[in-house]
Amino acid sequence: MKNAIQLHDKKFVVSLPSTKIQERIKTLGSQISSEMEGKCPLFICVLNGAFLFAADLLKNISTDCEITFIRVSSYEGTASTGNLKSIMGLSENIEGRSVIIVEDIVDTGHTMVHLINELKSKNPAQLKLASLLLKPAALQHEIKIDYTGFEVPNDFLVGYGLDYDGLGRNLSDIYTLSID
Ligand code: IMP
Ligand code: MG
Repeated sequence: MKNAIQLHDKKFVVSLPSTKIQERIKTLGSQISSEMEGKCPLFICVLNGAFLFAADLLKNISTDCEITFIRVSSYEGTASTGNLKSIMGLSENIEGRSVIIVEDIVDTGHTMVHLINELKSKNPAQLKLASLLLKPAALQHEIKIDYTGFEVPNDFLVGYGLDYDGLGRNLSDIYTLSID
């Protein structure tokens, strides 16, 4: 593990080492496994950022389950409503199913509010949210996160799926933008 790295023009320092991340995911995995026992939950991994979290989380699920992958795209609305988000790639029928959204990070919460509302309209039996990271200081919506990995300060992070302008997703540790 490198303590400090450079991506494009910026320097980052380790804030969450992979041992800590993996340990936490193990705990989340066993909690989800016991709560979802016999329900065959469908995990919905939000690409791109959540791909590593989803992979490691699923390895720690001990009950039957399924996984699918979506993208949430934002585009400009025609009116003053601002950005609209649409779901791409969800072909599964989720009506009556136990669904768990797998997200890398909840920041302002804009993305999750849109996604949760869209998925709820498809009538799942239950809809849960697992997010590896949460920035409580940035949150602008009331969102219930059922399974949170870590609460983090309102700083820019990279690694373990998170990117800075395309780079850093491959890192096993999570890094914070360095101020010097
Ligand atoms: P929100 O809609 O503001 O909650 O933002 C959620 C999305 O912004 C996440 O799924 C990430 O893709 C991205 N994001 C938020 N904070 C960070 C960060 O610190 N580093 C990299 N990406 C981030
Ligand atoms: Mg994301």
